[in-house]
Amino acid sequence: MIVHRAAHSQHSPAQAEPDVRQQPEVTVLAMQHLHMKNYNYLVRDTDTSDAVIIDPAWEIDKIDRAIVATNSRLREILLTHAHSDHVHLAREVSERYDCPIRMSKEEIASSGYDAPRLRPIDGPWAVGKMRIEPILTPGHTPGCICYVIGANLFTGDVLFAEGCGICPNDQAAYAMYDSLSELKHRIDPSTAVYPGHSYGDPPGQKMERLLKQNIYLQFRTPESFVAFRMRSGQSMTKIFDFR
Ligand SMILES: [Fe+2]
Repeated sequence: MIVHRAAHSQHSPAQAEPDVRQQPEVTVLAMQHLHMKNYNYLVRDTDTSDAVIIDPAWEIDKIDRAIVATNSRLREILLTHAHSDHVHLAREVSERYDCPIRMSKEEIASSGYDAPRLRPIDGPWAVGKMRIEPILTPGHTPGCICYVIGANLFTGDVLFAEGCGICPNDQAAYAMYDSLSELKHRIDPSTAVYPGHSYGDPPGQKMERLLKQNIYLQFRTPESFVAFRMRSGQSMTKIFDFR
């Protein structure tokens, strides 16, 4: 369990009122089941202790311990998409902590995912004093969502530090190009990026670094991006071996 606290918090002990610009605390949870490795993120408003967890999977004991260790009050479960390694514990955590599950309506429609406390996302909302801004980023799946919370971006399988998520066909790859273009233009370079998986770089790399080093962010035309994303000979065991 690694806790990331933003260095540029505006809060100071001299301030009488809590500063709404204060950055949330991000607890990074490395989860594993057999060969599956996922990152979960517990994101906590440091004023109210209200928290959300992103894509809970595999190790519920770690989630429980992180909630206790950070004195969090879990309010919501945010899902980036409906693949099994991202939704694995959503129902169980939702029941245990009596909190809703969020997913894009596009992803619900395309995947058929259902759960007792499932709430389709309809624009930005707040948990505690944290503003949660969803960005619809289709391509890996039709309804993938990235979440902006403070100076953090949670990207699921859309954007990794080292690459981007796989796309099932050319049409999806064109959508991925548009999604990555939107992130490139919309996300401040100082934003910390927290993907669902790592292929070398630890979570929390700055967008600025990805803009320079991630090969999938370098393409200038959709055609060239799609040709590279859908190139033949790709292997799941060497997914970011570009040579
Ligand atoms: Fe996925």
